[in-house]
Amino acid sequence: MEMYRRTYAEIDLDALEKNISALRGPLGDKTFFCPMVKANAYGHGDVQVSRALELMGIHQVGVCLIEEGLLLRNFGVKSDILVFRGFDREGARKILEYNMTPVVSAWDQIEHLEAVATTPVQIHLKFDTGMNRLGFATKEAPKLFERLWQNPKVRLKALVTHLSHGEDANSEEGRSSTQLRALSEVARTFKAFDPIVHALNSAGIIHRLELTKKRNLEGRILGERDWGCRPGLAMYGFNPVAPGVGCDLAPVMNLKSQVGVYRTLAQGETVSYGGTWTAQRDSVIAVVPIGYADGYHRILSNRSHAIFRDQKVPVVGTVCMDYLMLDVTDAIRNKPDLNDHDVILFGRSSGGMVMSAEELARHSGTITWEVLTSIGERVPRLYKGAKAALLNEEPQ
Ligand SMILES: Cc1ncc(COP(=O)(O)O)c(C=O)c1O
Repeated sequence: MEMYRRTYAEIDLDALEKNISALRGPLGDKTFFCPMVKANAYGHGDVQVSRALELMGIHQVGVCLIEEGLLLRNFGVKSDILVFRGFDREGARKILEYNMTPVVSAWDQIEHLEAVATTPVQIHLKFDTGMNRLGFATKEAPKLFERLWQNPKVRLKALVTHLSHGEDANSEEGRSSTQLRALSEVARTFKAFDPIVHALNSAGIIHRLELTKKRNLEGRILGERDWGCRPGLAMYGFNPVAPGVGCDLAPVMNLKSQVGVYRTLAQGETVSYGGTWTAQRDSVIAVVPIGYADGYHRILSNRSHAIFRDQKVPVVGTVCMDYLMLDVTDAIRNKPDLNDHDVILFGRSSGGMVMSAEELARHSGTITWEVLTSIGERVPRLYKGAKAALLNEEPQ
């Protein structure tokens, strides 16, 4: 890979594999398990992550857009690809042409599939149980059953819903429990199809794992059936409930760069656009070649930290399109190593210092999902770990 700027996202496939085993291991092989690789696998590289998952024996992935699925197919991904967003007739044609599986969330989509299918199509049927985004109303279940029972073209394989408050899935009084009960009711209507039923996002999975560990699933809606799982954030190493709950996870992405130049400032001088930071003493400023065009948000100006020489150093002045500046005065004094110019924007340093994407999200007033998916296209992804070398081999 050509890289003239040493700014990159390091993707640790060993961490991905560990996270997958931590999440999937206790569930068992029979549980429906569909990692979400939409939005460029939450910024980690959708083709590479899907290929790595195949190498780990996982042959099902979820995307939002048809376009995302096409990209995976065109780059040799063989897995079953679930397309979650709705589609029109042209979209239906593409989904079938590329051997993907549609998640159907409206009546006209059934018609589109019937119109273009030349052989029977397997579908997942999405119900809106409280998210109020996509899906059929649960009261439509009996009519849908009639529409699909013995339908020669459209075959129901699974029922789907999406939790709006996954973090409360451990409470019988929470919204998730209400949603799961509603989907269970739908599943009873469709019993004759013997469908897979999937609903758990990362938070739902984490709660299920925690309750399983505590042998406390009995009598709970989370324990009522073998709920299918669609992990996103957790498989990339972040626990949406709390660190250590359910299982241990390790962040897969480290965002790294190298100091381009150092500036020596006299007390009273300012840094960057608008002069929003003034040196209170003679200072050394490191100019780092990553900016908001790479997904390091401008709102982090004067608010965040990075790791330099195993120390947390503050981001000073306004974050620019292509650069940000760090006050490294103390760090250089503490560790005057002339050859170490590495900067970790988020991740863990070799000395064990951590600046997490979660912390960056807090400083930005956003969520970890947004921090990860914001990392821009011009940041190369470099893969490491036992499976990294196999990614470029011809898929079997
Ligand atoms: C339909 C669907 N399932 C699963 C997920 C995964 O969610 P999470 O990243 O919270 O695990 C998402 C993400 O938004 C989603 O839209």
